[in-house]
Amino acid sequence: MCGIVGYVGPRDSQGILVAGLARLEYRGYDSAGIAVVGENGRLTARKKAGKLAALRESLEQDPMGRGTTGIGHTRWATHGGPTDLNAHPHLADGDRLAVIHNGIIENFAELKKELVAEGVEFLSETDTEVAAQLIARAYRETGDLVAAFRAVVNRLDGAFTLLATHEDHPDLVVGARRNSPLVIGLGEGENFLGSDVAAFVEHTRRALAIGQDEIVAITPDKVTVTDFDGNSVEPQPFEVSWDASAADKGGWSSFMAKEVSEEPEAVANTVRGRVKDGRISIPELEGLDELFVGIERVVILACGTAYYAGLVGKYAIEKWSRIPVVVELAHEFRYSDPIVSESTLVISISQSGETMDTLMAVKEAARLGAKTLSICNTQGSTIPRESDAVVYTHAGPEVAVASTKAFVAQITALYLFALHIADVRGSLDQAVSDEAVAQLEALPSKIQWILDNEQDRIEQLAGWMADTRSVLFLGRHVGYPIALEGALKLKEISYIHAEGFAAGELKHGPIALVEPGQPVFVVVPSPRGSVTMHQKVISNIEEIRARGARVIAIAEQGDSAVLPSADEVLRIPLASPLFEPLLAVVPLHIFAMGLATAKGLDVDQPRNLAKSVTVE
Ligand code: F6R
Repeated sequence: MCGIVGYVGPRDSQGILVAGLARLEYRGYDSAGIAVVGENGRLTARKKAGKLAALRESLEQDPMGRGTTGIGHTRWATHGGPTDLNAHPHLADGDRLAVIHNGIIENFAELKKELVAEGVEFLSETDTEVAAQLIARAYRETGDLVAAFRAVVNRLDGAFTLLATHEDHPDLVVGARRNSPLVIGLGEGENFLGSDVAAFVEHTRRALAIGQDEIVAITPDKVTVTDFDGNSVEPQPFEVSWDASAADKGGWSSFMAKEVSEEPEAVANTVRGRVKDGRISIPELEGLDELFVGIERVVILACGTAYYAGLVGKYAIEKWSRIPVVVELAHEFRYSDPIVSESTLVISISQSGETMDTLMAVKEAARLGAKTLSICNTQGSTIPRESDAVVYTHAGPEVAVASTKAFVAQITALYLFALHIADVRGSLDQAVSDEAVAQLEALPSKIQWILDNEQDRIEQLAGWMADTRSVLFLGRHVGYPIALEGALKLKEISYIHAEGFAAGELKHGPIALVEPGQPVFVVVPSPRGSVTMHQKVISNIEEIRARGARVIAIAEQGDSAVLPSADEVLRIPLASPLFEPLLAVVPLHIFAMGLATAKGLDVDQPRNLAKSVTVE
């Protein structure tokens, strides 16, 4: 939530900041603003409620003067609605200091009271302005912006990335982070800061990760990192593995359309380089076998779509390693007085690596002694840094708010890890492993088959259903999390009521929702897997059909049992039952996107949402 960018160097910073914000807009798009120290030595700021386009238009109509140092912000509102005044930057010290912020300062009310008592006047309702005024007050004492940060950050509770620039220091941007992301981009004679590398990847792929509770100061040719007490810190360098074009729309109508089209590649890239001589060999886990040997229980923690990936992953881990797995929503886990020990492996799943609910749950699990492994798509992000081990999904940058290609990559990574942990513990049959690897390697072309052969028909169906007010989704076993994912995707981008159910649960209540014409998607398991489960799902279809439901079945090619009872059949290629979810979800992603598009909605930036939920 909220995107942050900073620049110091020889170039005019305005264009760089606005381009960086465009790449970070997925993080929040309620309002946007920049502050630049101009060549005249004065700090100027511009901020606008609404999407970045509003700020762009204002800058075009009324350009700000050239300035080579600046900071920029795109907002997802927490304290105070999305208005021009609440937009960042917030100014202080006689409008000579500009501050931007991502996160929530939980004790802002008491700090504000203290400042108000001193006669400080506030223009906005934000917690950020409190931080800006505190930094200004500390700065006036020393004239040292880094020292001012040091004096303030330890007084702030909650989560924050703060960036500031002051007109007294025209070549300096200072930042600090606690529980919110910030990375450094290293240029030649210029340096960058960003909420993630997308902010600066078109200028440099050399980056430094900033740790928890650290302060960074960048000038055109120097980067200094210290902890909150002023001790010097060596930041961790890394190279961004994708280039700027990967984060561009590249001719697609939306990022979501591009990202769904990249689902085959996301799976292929996640498998690539992880199978050596027929065995799973995950480079990030080399030398870490010890972590997994004594594990007696696995707890998977995640939110939203990543949680559904975890629900699918449970089946694979239990099947191949016979370790019991529970999957919990990260925010529920943290406050549940959880039972974990050294023999528990906590696997967190997060595309962004910044989801605050997941991060806090991982920290709590680690505090209680659990081993922690993160499945993550974002290099340099916080959750992998806070974990004992990481397996990266190589889905490439995901910009659309609704997660698609990251979901299939997360399941793929979980399957790879399931095979790996089974192997480490000596419980893996080589023939089973060979078959699983062959299934994984065959997935990309099967997903591509769906995109090539079924996408148009699914989009047409979605177009016909543009006026639908409610859609239900049913699945069993690994099809159940897919039903949940289908429902979440539809509700979040098309604002239609959608519910996913375990098909077996139908008769325990949800069937009451079925009335004539009610569309119901049913994920049909392969008859080649469990015949009983297939028959049971066909019976479920009959039950809802008898009550007038309009059934859209997702079934494998050649499954003719669905034909008499389904109104529409969307076909997927044949795969072993455990691998079907990676295929069955594709029509549902296409459907949600098609329906939202037919309604004329912005599929990339749905209302009220942001890609990276960095507040609890
Ligand atoms: C839904 C969606 C969200 C995320 C969830 C977790 O399409 O994108 O439900 O899956 O907010 O985000 P990450 O994976 O970044 O932790």
